[in-house]
Amino acid sequence: MEKRSWAEPYKIKMVELLKMTTREEREKAIIEAGFNTFLLKSDDVYIDLLTDSGCGAMSDQQWSAIMLGDESYAGSRNFYHLRDTIEEYYSYKYTVPTHQGRGAENILSQIMIKPGDFVPGNMYFTTTRLHQELAGGTFVDVIIDEAHQVDSHHPFKGNVDFSKLNKLLEEVGAENIPYICIATCVNMAGGQPISMDNLKQLRVWCDQHKIVLVHDMTRVAENAFFIQQREAAYAAKSVKEIVYEICALTDVATMSSKKDAMVNIGGFLAMNDDKLYEKACGLVVVYEGLHTYGGMAGRDMEALAVGIKESVQDEHMHARIGQIEYLGEKLMAAGVPIVQPIGGHAVFLDARKLLPHIPQEQYPAQALSAALYVESGVRSMERGIVSAGRNKETGKNHAPALELVRLTIPRRVYTQAHMDVTAESVIRVMENADKVKGLRFTYEPEVLRFFMGRFEEVG
Ligand SMILES: Cc1ncc(COP(=O)(O)O)c(C=O)c1O
Repeated sequence: MEKRSWAEPYKIKMVELLKMTTREEREKAIIEAGFNTFLLKSDDVYIDLLTDSGCGAMSDQQWSAIMLGDESYAGSRNFYHLRDTIEEYYSYKYTVPTHQGRGAENILSQIMIKPGDFVPGNMYFTTTRLHQELAGGTFVDVIIDEAHQVDSHHPFKGNVDFSKLNKLLEEVGAENIPYICIATCVNMAGGQPISMDNLKQLRVWCDQHKIVLVHDMTRVAENAFFIQQREAAYAAKSVKEIVYEICALTDVATMSSKKDAMVNIGGFLAMNDDKLYEKACGLVVVYEGLHTYGGMAGRDMEALAVGIKESVQDEHMHARIGQIEYLGEKLMAAGVPIVQPIGGHAVFLDARKLLPHIPQEQYPAQALSAALYVESGVRSMERGIVSAGRNKETGKNHAPALELVRLTIPRRVYTQAHMDVTAESVIRVMENADKVKGLRFTYEPEVLRFFMGRFEEVG
């Protein structure tokens, strides 16, 4: 496809004013936040690239949908609209709404995993793995090695390595693998896609061994865009068509609708099997709400149905990925080490290369993220040893090969000038990298420690 400019397919009709802060104010704020950008007040942040979750800009159509909310406790018409939209765009017959993605992960893990089971996946995700572990399972990484290599230019770093999968099968047997969970556009690998070819092979493998194929479809439309761009057989297909085809290859899906589908809150568990649906309905009433609203208000289900339709538009996705490439290319031109190819929802900085003087046990990515905030008020997130947490058996830190800072771009929120300021800030931190100090925990939560952990500088 010819490379053309990615100008936004929308115009702005309302703005949210931002507060500017001084360096002194930011130095104070980061100490108060224990060097954890999750603990900053958003009022103290200028450009918020913490996450792309729940902070996208809804369209006028989505805001209008909010006014159509049917808040009946049971049988809301918005539920039926959402269910039909999910079937039309994503292929899944049954939908159980949840308050967000992890609500769906909780229900799925409880239904399908028995203690002692193994759950392979194309790299872990924090909440996904935790729910698998809480249900008594063990996550096993079966992603290709290239996904763990910052410098590899593999176009589909989200692919499954079948030799790893077959090794697991031989070791534990199919009866101890309740399902394989495949994320599209793998977050922890740097927003890297899985190819349609790999997914089709996985479908055959799952059928051969009678293992359920679960799809973490949080960023399926971004994955579909990369398939369109990089897999020759799909160059002429629309993002919408590719999204449907990906989903139709899988059996069950968990979705955090706060990403691709651009709503502020919401998620769902979707599937084709009626027995599984029955079980999911039995649990959703315990943890979320009645099966026709789960964790969501009627108005939010309506906005989600509209968001799904907008998320699969080719021009939307072209601008979305184009903005991330713009930031990534600007950083690369200045010599900033980033994960390549540039990902679907974020640019990931390589903290190992940027701060070689800080050993991984002193949390270089956490330190880099804090330093970037102090430099300019740009908020990012650690995705390295802090996020990886500890091994539940040995208590030792997981020490991932990737020690990254994620600059996550919310959908339809920031301008090209914001990307310029972000790039300039990262470059300034890189130029003064030797001044950044390592960190140690002053408070370490037992689970998901990256959310609320607190740190102080070493030395
Ligand atoms: C790949 C992936 N799966 C699951 C989740 C969990 O979704 P939520 O934050 O809505 O609970 C996220 C959220 O960041 C995610 O990126």
